[in-house]
Amino acid sequence: MNAFRWFVLLAVVSTGAMVSAQDPIDGVVIRENVVPLMHRKLDRAKDILEGLTLEQYEKIASNARSLRLLSMESDWNVVQTQEYQKQSNDFRRACDSIEKAAEAKDASRAALAYVTLTVRCIECHRYMRDNKIDLTSYRK
Ligand code: HEC
Repeated sequence: MNAFRWFVLLAVVSTGAMVSAQDPIDGVVIRENVVPLMHRKLDRAKDILEGLTLEQYEKIASNARSLRLLSMESDWNVVQTQEYQKQSNDFRRACDSIEKAAEAKDASRAALAYVTLTVRCIECHRYMRDNKIDLTSYRK
């Protein structure tokens, strides 16, 4: 175990988070800017919805693009499990579909892709809940 992992472990213990042998702590890297990044993600998703309702294709496309880029940042990829990778890939595909539909000025295809994106949000969060991967307790 290297120094950084020890630091992570100590940070977890000192914040009072539950740590047990089964916890995927080894695959989790904690960074203080993770939650702000995640909130930017929510903002981008809301902006896509705004763009969809107003049929502002450039707004839809640019926010879908920045969401996809956001998902490639290291702070997004805090959870290093295969399933999280898969969920992230599905998420990126949904972003890509939104962007392409918006570029083609296809409102209904963009709307459908947005629904898919929303499902991706919920699915990944459910995966984390089911596996008790919860970074929120590291905040403050
Ligand atoms: C591939 C997995 C994944 C996907 C997909 C995903 N998230 Fe997240 N989300 C995370 C992780 C990891 C965190 C940080 C851990 C936590 O808050 O428990 C997080 C945190 C958040 C937070 C901050 C929670 C807090 O406590 O402040 C919000 C808001 C959020 N996500 C919204 C969304 C929205 C909206 C989408 C879809 C546009 C989405 N997420 C898609 C993994 C994901």
